[in-house]
Amino acid sequence: MRNQMKLFSGGANPALAERICEHLGVRLGEAFVGPFADGEVRVKIEEDVRGADVFVVQPTCPPVNDNLMQLVLLMDALRRASAERITAVIPYFGYARQDRKDEGRVPISAKLVANMITNAGANRVLALDLHAAQLQGFFDIPVDHLYASPVFMKYFKHNGLKDMTVVAPDVGSSKLARGYAKRLGAGLAIVDKRRVSDKKTEVMSVIGEVKNRNVLIIDDMISTAGSITEAAKVVHDLGASSIRLAATHPIFCGPAIERLNKAPVREVVVTDSIPVEDDRRPDTVKVLSVARLLGEAILRIHHAESVSRLFEAELDD
Ligand code: R5P
Repeated sequence: MRNQMKLFSGGANPALAERICEHLGVRLGEAFVGPFADGEVRVKIEEDVRGADVFVVQPTCPPVNDNLMQLVLLMDALRRASAERITAVIPYFGYARQDRKDEGRVPISAKLVANMITNAGANRVLALDLHAAQLQGFFDIPVDHLYASPVFMKYFKHNGLKDMTVVAPDVGSSKLARGYAKRLGAGLAIVDKRRVSDKKTEVMSVIGEVKNRNVLIIDDMISTAGSITEAAKVVHDLGASSIRLAATHPIFCGPAIERLNKAPVREVVVTDSIPVEDDRRPDTVKVLSVARLLGEAILRIHHAESVSRLFEAELDD
């Protein structure tokens, strides 16, 4: 007989965990997650998990350190409570951008965080739109890497825009943008961006045609919104007919909301991989849910079925 499936949530995105549970028709596992008086993270699993196939939903979004600590402590508690298998469901993987020594005397934070997650007791990881696909190799346990593209694709296909061009806001996102352009039957353009500091970027030029086109700028995340709004300004100045932005992870930190509200864009489409709080919401935001996608993947992992087939089926849907 298959082990019982149980889902738990950290404090980062309980609403998404509830939506996944709703899709699966299961109840969210009971756990306490909160701070001790001195600010340390305190967790307690409030139900029996012995022998269970456990999934812990916790994006490591801001406040990243608290959320990461909650994730590893939850898994440590589950492991010590004799859960049979633990899958860390990480809809947004923080620290991912520090994935190599791009200058002297810096850490490779993404690798350290991957080690922490494994050492805490994760047997598997389920991730969504990792900043770079090769991050999978930072883990020595199985990683299922999902893409939010089926969710976005469904939305943009149904909105029936003509004369579309998909724009990558930097060379790093060009592969992602090419995939969207192909499936939407749209043109492709790439913004040649230079990062001046962690908060400021500069656009050098645009490769491809954006004049009189309905532009969709695609990225994996919007952090300070510098990259994506700079790209929007440039394509606007080059004569785009309309501009929409899409990114899986709405980190929305620092000046992001102000930048997005000032940008010449009709819509900012993101997912609920990270919660979009009411007081940190761009005026034109549209949030699409990845709960069904994650729920289906969880079901397939539980039943030892192929997860990549799910992705193909979702895209053809
Ligand atoms: C860059 O490599 C990423 O794909 C994003 O474009 C970038 O990290 C977003 O950051 P920000 O919104 O602060 O420009």
